[in-house]
Amino acid sequence: ADEHTPRDKDLSSDLVAALPRRQDPIAELLLYQGCWLPKYWVPGVIEFQRRFNPRPDDVVLASYPKCGTTWLMALAFAAAARRAYPPAATGEHPLRRLHPHDIVSFVVEVFARGEEAKLDALPSPRLMSTHLPFTLLPPRVTAGGGCKVVYVCRDPKDMVVSLWHFLRRSCKLPSKPEDLSFDELFDAVCDGTSALGPAWDHVLSYWRAAVARPDRVLFLRYEDLQRDTGESVRRLAEFMGRPFSAAEEAAGAVAAVVELCSFGNMKALEVNKNKAGSVASGNLVIPRDAFFRKGVAGDWANHMTPEMAARMDGIFREELLGTGFSF
Ligand code: A3P
Repeated sequence: ADEHTPRDKDLSSDLVAALPRRQDPIAELLLYQGCWLPKYWVPGVIEFQRRFNPRPDDVVLASYPKCGTTWLMALAFAAAARRAYPPAATGEHPLRRLHPHDIVSFVVEVFARGEEAKLDALPSPRLMSTHLPFTLLPPRVTAGGGCKVVYVCRDPKDMVVSLWHFLRRSCKLPSKPEDLSFDELFDAVCDGTSALGPAWDHVLSYWRAAVARPDRVLFLRYEDLQRDTGESVRRLAEFMGRPFSAAEEAAGAVAAVVELCSFGNMKALEVNKNKAGSVASGNLVIPRDAFFRKGVAGDWANHMTPEMAARMDGIFREELLGTGFSF
C-alpha cells in the first residue's frame, strides 16, 4: 500500500480546490475525473483509489443511486453466505436482524472515515458497495488481476422518481426537504449534472467493462430482477464462483434466497423500519425504511408527464446511440 503521509493530504486538498464545482439542491458537487461527485465524498474517493487492495474473490456491488443497490446487497449476501446462513423461511439469518446497508459497506465511506482496517478484517469473499462509475474505481480493481464487480442499472425515469422520494425523506436541506423540486432533480439528470452523473456515462462505463471482461463484471438490470429474480440469483451466484448445485436447486435454495430478499419481506422486517434508527451519509440522514419505498418498475408514469418521459428517454437514447446498450 502507498505510504499515507501528511503530504498526500496536502496534495489531495490542492487537487480538490482546483476542481470545477456546482451547487446542487442537495450538496456541492465537484467534477472529478468526469463525474459530478458530492464534495464530501472526494477525499474518500481519493483514498479508495490510492489505497484499496482488492482480493481476487472480492465482489464490488456497483450502481447509480436508487437503481437497486439495497436489493443487490441482500441477494448477493444471501447467495454468497448461504452455506453459513441458510436462507430458510424461518430462523436466524443476518438479513433478518441487520439492514442490508449494515451488512455491505459503502467502500468510499469506509475510506473517508479512515476505517479500512475493518475491510482487512472481513473474511473472503468480501462484499462491498459503491456508487462510483467504473472509470473511477481504483486501477487495482479494474486492471487485469483486480476483483469482481456486479452492476445493477435501472430505467432512469424510475431512478429519478425513486431519488426524489428518497431525498425528500433524507436530506438536511436549508429549506424543507419536502419542498425539493422534482423538476429540478429531473432537469439535473437530463443535463448530466446530477450527483454521480452524467448517468449515461455511469451505466456505459459498466456496460463496456462487462462486454470486455464478462468474467470480471456482471451487468444486471433492476427490471430483469423484477421479471425473474431466481434467474438473476443463479447468474449472481455463478459469477461469484458459488453456483447452485443440482441438490440445492432441488431443495429450493434459489427460491429461499429470492423470498428472503423480496421487497415485501425486507420492508416488513423490524430492522428495516424507521424505528430501528437512521443511516448517516454525508449530509443525508436516511431513515432506514427510505430504502424500501414501492419496489416496482414503471412508477415514473405516476410522477411525470408523457412529454417529460419522452424528453428523458430521448436524451438517454441519443447519448447511448451506437454503444450497443439501451434501456
Ligand atoms: P422505489 O423508490 O422505486 O420503490 P437503492 O437500493 O439503490 O437505494 O434503490 C432503492 C429502490 O429499490 C427503491 O425503489 C426501493 O423501493 C427498491 N428496493 C429496495 N429493496 C428492494 C427489494 N428487495 N426488491 C425490489 N425493490 C427494492
